[in-house]
Amino acid sequence: MKPVLVKDDIYWVGVHDPRLGAFEVVLPTPWGTTYNSYLIMAEKPALIETVKVTFRDEYLEKIKSLVDPLRIEYVVLNHTEADHSGAVPWVVEIAPNARVITSEAASRHIYQLFHLEREPLAVGDGDKLDLGDRELSFIGAPYLHWPDTMFTYSPGDRALFTCDAFGVHYCDEGAVFDDEAGDFAEAYRYYFDNIMRPFREKVREAVDKIAGLELDVICPGHGPVLRSDPRRYLKLYLDWSEEKDDAAVESRVAVLYSSAYGNVAQMADQIARGLAAAGVTPVLRDALSLREEEIPSLLTGAGAFLVGVPAFAGDALAPIERVLAAASTATVGGKPAAVFGPFGTTGEGVRRVEEELEKAGAKVTAAALAVDFSPDEEVFQRCRAFGLEFAGSLKRS
Ligand code: FEO
Repeated sequence: MKPVLVKDDIYWVGVHDPRLGAFEVVLPTPWGTTYNSYLIMAEKPALIETVKVTFRDEYLEKIKSLVDPLRIEYVVLNHTEADHSGAVPWVVEIAPNARVITSEAASRHIYQLFHLEREPLAVGDGDKLDLGDRELSFIGAPYLHWPDTMFTYSPGDRALFTCDAFGVHYCDEGAVFDDEAGDFAEAYRYYFDNIMRPFREKVREAVDKIAGLELDVICPGHGPVLRSDPRRYLKLYLDWSEEKDDAAVESRVAVLYSSAYGNVAQMADQIARGLAAAGVTPVLRDALSLREEEIPSLLTGAGAFLVGVPAFAGDALAPIERVLAAASTATVGGKPAAVFGPFGTTGEGVRRVEEELEKAGAKVTAAALAVDFSPDEEVFQRCRAFGLEFAGSLKRS
């Protein structure tokens, strides 16, 4: 699709990716996605976001069809995840006069990420950027979806660029605007639940910040450009972020394990008995038997989770790596978690899993239950007690 005029001098120069199977490798994306980038043809032209590197050739052609890249003065990155920043090195190659603009949080790593010749310009909440015939302002929106995220607002155009926020992994190859695309309501809610909901307090803070802006159009980084009643999307985000977690979800504990010789499976079974005795519902799954797309739902569908790791030095086994990868897509923010498994020779496998869960935002609320290689009845008693105790921490969280 060719560039599309969004309004005034703002062009959509994004790309469609209808065949994307999973976002960040683990979140299934049955509706595909788009990577949206916008070119503001101001006196000092500016790009907002870029696209995933796979699509760089198509993307650069779109830019060149609208402007001599030597004229581009700024590339604004509202968020530096690779689906938005991947083409940056190629953009700055054809647009050597362009200065990359990022949030302060992003500026700390963007320079090393791309080995840019010019240091990026870091902006903070409320800072402004003069484009000659219009001005952009920046609004901090941390955790939507990474700590580095900000929004960019063009008051003259009443246009808000929000990157992941208000986006959706949905692709209608014939459409750019929400009123042209097919029905993406289900995909919109799925995206919110899996990508934004873990940060719902931050969602409310961000919506509060932008509530007073004049808005003709919201230009997100994924999915349709929202021009038909953009405030409706603010209200959806506010309403959904205020929903309490489902009581049934809160009473479930996912127990995901991998077991090479059956020892971890036996421990998991005994822990599940302890959980059940405490009145919570264990959802017991051997990670090896899980399809990749099932794991995020198990994590979001439980109020807490436990990970069972076999005794192998250093790294967890592949099935557990898949659980950790799913957790790292931020479906687990603030949820109680703990690790169990045979201690093995050094126990570093258990410790590494704990570290990864903490990095993903889970609250590791109980000390790992680490035992010697082969569990016996004394270990099974400890497993049941561990389940009981963990259920207590779930109720306290
Ligand atoms: Fe669309 Fe957080 O990347």
